[in-house]
Order: sequence, then structure tokens, then C-alpha cells
Amino acid sequence: MSNYHIKHLEEYFQVYRKSVQDPKRFWEEIAEEHFVWKKKWNEVLSWDFEKPEIKWFDGAQLNITENCLDRHLPSRGNKTAILFEPNDPSGGAQHITYRELHERVCRFANVLKNQGIGKGDRVCIYLPMIPELAFSLLACARIGAIHSVVFAGFSATALSTRINDCDAKMVITSDGSYRGAKTIDLKGIVDEALQDCPGVQSVLVAKRINTDIHMEAGRDHWLQPLLEEAYADCAAEIMEAEDPLFILYTSGSTGKPKGMLHTTAGYMIYTAYTFKNVFQYREEDIYWCSADIGWITGHSYIVYGPLANGATTVMFEGVPSYPDFGRFWEVVEKHKVTQFYTAPTAIRALAKESLDLVERHDLSSLKILGTVGEPINEEAWHWYNDHIGNKQCPIVDTWWQTETGGMLISPIPFSTPTKPTYATLPLPGVQPVLMDEHGKILKGNQTDGRLCIQFPWPSIARTIWGNHQRYKETYFSAFPGMYFTGDGALRDEVGYYRITGRVDDVIIVSGHNLGTAPIEDAINEHPAVAESAIVGFPHDIKGNALYGFVILKENGEDRDRDNLKKEINQMITDHIGPIAKLDKIQFVPGLPKTRSGKIMRRILRKIASNELGNLGDTSTLLNPEVVDQIIEERQ
Ligand code: PRX
Repeated sequence: MSNYHIKHLEEYFQVYRKSVQDPKRFWEEIAEEHFVWKKKWNEVLSWDFEKPEIKWFDGAQLNITENCLDRHLPSRGNKTAILFEPNDPSGGAQHITYRELHERVCRFANVLKNQGIGKGDRVCIYLPMIPELAFSLLACARIGAIHSVVFAGFSATALSTRINDCDAKMVITSDGSYRGAKTIDLKGIVDEALQDCPGVQSVLVAKRINTDIHMEAGRDHWLQPLLEEAYADCAAEIMEAEDPLFILYTSGSTGKPKGMLHTTAGYMIYTAYTFKNVFQYREEDIYWCSADIGWITGHSYIVYGPLANGATTVMFEGVPSYPDFGRFWEVVEKHKVTQFYTAPTAIRALAKESLDLVERHDLSSLKILGTVGEPINEEAWHWYNDHIGNKQCPIVDTWWQTETGGMLISPIPFSTPTKPTYATLPLPGVQPVLMDEHGKILKGNQTDGRLCIQFPWPSIARTIWGNHQRYKETYFSAFPGMYFTGDGALRDEVGYYRITGRVDDVIIVSGHNLGTAPIEDAINEHPAVAESAIVGFPHDIKGNALYGFVILKENGEDRDRDNLKKEINQMITDHIGPIAKLDKIQFVPGLPKTRSGKIMRRILRKIASNELGNLGDTSTLLNPEVVDQIIEERQ
């Protein structure tokens, strides 16, 4: 029996049992059999969820790029590593082999070195989904620099906050990007962000849309000529198992974004292992994850997990709606994709379009379908199953988080029978528990509570960059001794998990994690706004949409409401990005507050969701009368 590749349900249970009974031995066998090391570890795992401190494979030395690139060269040198499908369908796909990828990463790594970047330095990457994005992550990893990718839909303010938080010395960007029929001036956004980033010494600019852009002398450099001049070989830096690999920011319910820090060995092993099992990956497969590398899904399951397995991974620059809503299916047909991994929000949007857009394509290459990022509703699940999978492809509903580095709860295709809307069973090495509000473990099945994990898995984030105390408070304090996910879940009669959604003030909109506090802060900067509260409400396509309750200052009372709404959304676009825009804005005379002054979001959520019959007890509010006024003027 191989721990590394589970093929049927009985084997899953055996492997799972072993992973729980002797986790150290379990992961050690996988580490030994499937990866290359410069030096073996002293200790497989040491951990303390009180401190918290977690170390996997301490004492080992390696470089993740040797595992993702060099070791494949003898047997897979001419195999496609990255299959790039551009925004423009007539643009021609690029097949980048493992040998070419190795060379491009080495050249890029040398460029970084020539620019003074070394081990431990932070490099911010703000690029569209072009091959240079994958090269730049791997080039950083090659020399031990810590990459911090910022999704290229974030605004200049969001970008500068993230650059400054981790003190990045360099930014890698492009002259612009394509998004369907539009182009976006990425470099302009970087220029604006850098006005507030004194620590950035250099900017590398990839050419993508060939427009005239401002290049700041001494700071900005075109990437291509530097790559051409650089040596095509670059020795991999020797990294300790627990050396940082990357930082990736995620929203919290309060305060600024959290820079989740992932380290090298555990992240590599876990993403490779879960990729292999959850997608039942085989050598000849063409795997496509439609996420953006700006999110954790892209880090783990476009770049590191697939490449560590020597897979062919599709990188798609475009959007599902361009040139029409059949684009995903056209790409599946064109490249004979075998595994397809996307978000429920995309499925819901595509399910609304004509079936003809699906049926005109041959999707028979597909073997496995996946979803991630938010709960999938039953209707979307069936549409995906019937029309994309032709009822032949298991759907893996994978539950995980930026913080977890890899999938934690998911079916294993052909082993775990799937059940619509259920992420089903924990993957090997993952020990979930449900807790009640008082911190008691809920035993047995048919129960629901707060989802915690009681034992470390290899790819758990090790800290929040620069703020270990916040890491402890956010994840390890609500239920001492446990990692708290922030999600609620139920466990059915056979032990399957279904994620029911966030239990904190994070709202998942179109699969994107948005904290209420940063959005409220952005709105409150509008000169006419006194105070605001944001809540989520159900939305057909996005899963959740945002509803803003806004109290105006006196100077705003006479202003045109429609203009004010536009300005408020513009404030959000400027501070965070268009993904955080509000669907509904209601101007209110006050917000329901407790006697201690806390906004009662529970009531606002009900109002926004039109669940007016069930508001609960409002009599303890400081200002109960305001609730009726808000309901009367509801949007
Ligand atoms: O609420 C859960 C939801 O997305 C959150 C994590 O968001 P993020 O860190 O951006 O990572 C998304 C990609 C891994 C979780 O706390 N979530 C993620 N996957 C699922 C999900 N909710 C339900 N079902 C899922 N499969």
C-alpha cells in the first residue's frame, strides 16, 4: 500500500487511520519517498498550539524548485509544464516544457540577484495571469526570496498597504493586462502605490500589452532584456525546511490584511500530496485550475502542487465570459483537459447562460471536476455534474483556506462517494472537530458547530507576518489548543462535513474573502459619511453580495443619493478594488447598537436578507426604534 496515492475507499480509511495514529511516521514516509532533499530532518514534527509554534521536518534542507523543476528534467524535460492559454482565443497557446521552465526560472532568479535581491528579502508580485507570474514565484523560491503576490485586481492603496506591511524591496509587474475586451493599466496602479512605498528599490516590468508607460529612471527596468542577458543556470539556494517560502494576504474581520506566512518543506509536501490524491493525477493528464495565482488556490494548485508532481498545468489569462460564456468549455476541448477546478460563483454564472454554449464543445476528456472557495449550492452542483461532467466525473468540493495552504476536507475521487454540497471527509493527516460555543467538543454524528482542527498538518501557516500575537488571537484563542477556522460546519449521519459558512465578520463574495472592517473604513473616509456597517446577503451568482448601511453627516443630507452611492463605491474601488463594491446601499438615520455601543450585525444581516419575521429580541438595543425605520426604507 502506498500512502501517496489512494485508489479506493477502504484504502482511504486505512491511510487515514495511519495518518492519525502515527502522523509523524505517515508524513515521514511520504517525505522520504517522493521528494529530493539536500539534508534529511532531525525531527518530523514539533508543535505547540498554545504558543503557537509548529515545525515540520526541522533540520532538513531543500529547495522547492529542485522538487518542482530540476528533478523532472531527466524524465520529463520535454513534457509541457505550463500550458498558457491567452486572453485572446486566437492568440495561440504556449507550451512551456519543464526544460524551458527551468531555464526561464534560472534566468529570472539571476535577474533578481543582479538587482540585489537575496535570501529572505520580500518581493511583491503584481502581475496578470501570464507565464512571468509563475516564473517570478519560482525565481524567488530558487534564491530564497519570499514572494508576496498581490492579486492584480487590487487597488493602488491595497497594493501599497501590502508592500509596506512586508517591507518589500522590489515589485514585479507588467505594462498592463488584458481582461476580456478591456486592457488595464497595471503599471499606472503600481506607480501610484509606490508614492507611498519608500522601501521599494526596483521595479521589474514585463511587457504584455505594448503600451507606452512611464518608466522611472533608476527604479524601473524592463524585464525581457535583463532575462536575455542573465545566465541560464542558477544554483538553488539551500533552504531550511522552516524557512519562509511566501506571504499571502487575506482579509480578517478587523484591521489590516493578514500576511499569512507559509514555509518550505511542509507546504511542498502537503500541496503535492493533496494534488495527487484529490485530482487522482496521472502522468498523461492535462490539469486546469481556473483560479488566479493571486489567491492561495493558484499558489498551491496551479504552481507548486502540480509542478511538484511533474504535471502539465494550464494557466489561463482570460475570463469566463470572453469572447463569450463558452470560453471555459472551448479551452477544455482545445487542450483536452482532464481535471477542471473552479469556483461555485463561476459555475453559477455559466449555468445562467444558454446550454448551447456548453453543448457545442466536446468535453469528453474530463475525468474529475473540482470546486473551491465557498459553499456550492445544490442547483449549481447538479448543473456542473450533469452538463459539464456528463454524470461521469466525480466532483471534489474542496474546503480549505489561505491559512491552511492546502485542501483539508475533500472527497477523493473514485474512493469517497460524493454528496452534493458536502466537502465530505477529512484528507489524511487532517483531524477536524466541531465545537459548541462554550468550547466543548461535539462528539458523534448529526451535529453542527464551529469547525476547528486539533492537530497540525504540514502546510498550516506558521504566523502572520510581523504579528505573531494576532496569529495567536485569531486562530488559537477562541478554542485553546485548537486551530479555529472561522467557519461553521455540520457533520451528517455518516460523518460527512458540510461547510455552512463564516461565523465571523468575513464575507465570501464570489469566492473572495472580504473583511467588513476595511470596507467600512474605506466608506467612512467619504466626507459625507458619518458611520457605516456592511453585511452580506444571499446572491444568485456571487453566493453573497454586500449591503451597506450608511449614516450621513449633516453635510451629506442634501446631496443627490445616487451620486453619493456612486462615490461610495468609488471609495471602495480606490481603497480595496472593484471586488469589494456594494450591491446595495441604504442611507439610514442610525445603526442598531447594543448598550455597549457594538453594532448588532445579526439584525442588519436579517434585514439585508429580507428575513424580517425573525429578527430576535430587539428590546435590549440602545435604539430599538431605528430598526423599524431601517426596515421601512429597505432597498
Ligand atoms: O469560508 C470558507 C470558504 O472560503 C474561506 C477561505 O477563503 P480563502 O482563504 O480566500 O481561501 C479560498 C480558497 C481555498 C473558508 O474559510 N471556503 C473555501 N472552500 C470552501 C469554502 N466554503 C465552503 N465550501 C468550500 N469548498
